[in-house]
Amino acid sequence: MACSLSFLSPSNLRPRFPQFRQSPPSSSFFSSRSRLSIQASSAIALDLPETTSKTSAVQKDLLACPICYEPLIRRGPPGLNLEAIYRSGFKCKTCNKSYSSKNIYLDLTVTAGSEEYAEIKPTSTELFRSPFVSFLYERGWRQNFNRSGFPGPEEEFKMAQEYFKPVEGGLLVDVSCGSGLFSRKFAKCGTYSGVIALDFSENMLRQCYDFTKKEDPTLSNNLALVRADVARLPFPPASIDAIHAGAALHCWPSPSNAIADIARTLRSGGIFVGTTFLRYTSSTSPLIRPLRERIAQPYSYLIEEEIEDLCKSCGLVDYSSKVQQSFIMFSARKP
Ligand SMILES: C[S@@+](CC[C@H](N)C(=O)[O-])C[C@H]1O[C@@H](n2cnc3c(N)ncnc32)[C@H](O)[C@@H]1O
Repeated sequence: MACSLSFLSPSNLRPRFPQFRQSPPSSSFFSSRSRLSIQASSAIALDLPETTSKTSAVQKDLLACPICYEPLIRRGPPGLNLEAIYRSGFKCKTCNKSYSSKNIYLDLTVTAGSEEYAEIKPTSTELFRSPFVSFLYERGWRQNFNRSGFPGPEEEFKMAQEYFKPVEGGLLVDVSCGSGLFSRKFAKCGTYSGVIALDFSENMLRQCYDFTKKEDPTLSNNLALVRADVARLPFPPASIDAIHAGAALHCWPSPSNAIADIARTLRSGGIFVGTTFLRYTSSTSPLIRPLRERIAQPYSYLIEEEIEDLCKSCGLVDYSSKVQQSFIMFSARKP
């Protein structure tokens, strides 16, 4: 599916570590307001001499290397917004590896820049990398979830906001954001200092960019697009206030590795909120359960007790949940 971006390539929009070929997003998307970048509260100033221009400062970033988790060194304008990230180059001094924006998202997967190695993930991840599925996702696919008890994006957003009350004003990461259905709502509501929309699917991130551009280009002031694996989150330990994962846990190749990494990146008091489809609930007839087990196979559909157990095993506390048919929204806190 073609991406409806009209890319220009002005020379002043070049990342500072030009390791990869790329095309910049249309500069018209970046309104003058978007230049008021939001500085991540957890960004750490580096003890390095500043360059002459403020827009080419060198600093340690909130974003970290997916290999060693050391904060990346950013060369370029600060802030978690599309333009600042696009105009910056990122480098891990420990791994001597550079990362920069490909098209509209910053690729922080372990394999970013690999020339020969191509990894095929399980079906539940690969399916969503397809341009076709990514295009359909918000145009009918997601609406079907209502039949399994999902209350719908508006209600799910409200429910998540309730859980996130203690971390209002902090930095929120929407992991496995898909086409950014919730990332856009989190960015728009103004509750958070910054929102990172993160997904493994390049095409989902492109959809997120397109929807953002169409709906409200000013959202780009407060939104960053990052490609990463949920089990290898590109953030230093204890750096994130809020992590949301809508309709995603069942798609993860290893829910335990994913929740362990979510727990690693949450700061003390940070909150994780997720939704997923349950394999079955306590009210499901024992006759139907084997059928649900079989349907579940390509996905990691869990039962509620497993989700709670997993959160606890990863050191999260105060687990709570709301269940409606196969839908569950659960929340847990980093102590
Ligand atoms: C069903 S969609 C959910 C999208 C959105 N959060 C929502 O609530 O509608 C699941 C998403 O999980 C993503 N995903 C699957 N495996 C992943 C992985 N290993 N790391 C990060 N995201 C992954 C897919 O690319 C897809 O966008």
